[in-house]
Amino acid sequence: MTAAALERTTFLREFLRAPFTVASVTPSGSMLSEVVTAPVPSTGDPVIVELGPGTGSFTAAIQRRLAGRGRHLAVEINPRFAKRLAAGYPQIEVAVADARRLPDVADQGSGDVIVSGLPWAAFTPDQQDDLLDAVTAVLAPHGTFTTFAYTHAQWAPSARRLRRLLGDRFEEVVLSRTVWANLPPAFVYHCRQPH
Ligand SMILES: C[S@@+](CC[C@H](N)C(=O)[O-])C[C@H]1O[C@@H](n2cnc3c(N)ncnc32)[C@H](O)[C@@H]1O
Repeated sequence: MTAAALERTTFLREFLRAPFTVASVTPSGSMLSEVVTAPVPSTGDPVIVELGPGTGSFTAAIQRRLAGRGRHLAVEINPRFAKRLAAGYPQIEVAVADARRLPDVADQGSGDVIVSGLPWAAFTPDQQDDLLDAVTAVLAPHGTFTTFAYTHAQWAPSARRLRRLLGDRFEEVVLSRTVWANLPPAFVYHCRQPH
């Protein structure tokens, strides 16, 4: 089996075990990973925090952009995903935790970029609020928070609520073009200047 096929199989198996936590049957593709990780600075030693890495689609793109620089902390609630990620990327720090506990595993205001792979549309309003509290506590004032949403679900109540919350919590929220090459198609929110 190729590495890509193994990744898809692992992802699908975890989806079947925990459909509401994994919330997708397939990992994000390389085009979406490029758009999501675009804010990773190309110079210096930035601190990158990744939420919900799964099998590591965004992890690989972050590592490629860092090219040995900075610090990369990944927070994953699923211990099997976390174990696999830690084995594949010994250079990153992997915390097995709910992303709502982010302030317990990263210093306040320390994250230059926070990249989210979390399934926002699957969360309750309280969970969305708690997660954004955690993100804005750890994001540096100059930092960027990046997350994605599936285009087909963008008018679902939880997706619309997320969009409203991002507008409340950040001075600047920029939407990417739709990444049609992703399965399913998705778009990205780049959020700056947390209130
Ligand atoms: C839609 S998958 C995305 C995985 C990967 N980032 C990608 O794009 O292919 C959602 C991921 O978030 C993780 N997750 C869900 N809820 C979480 C939470 N509260 N804290 C941390 N990770 C969570 C899941 O286990 C899964 O790995």
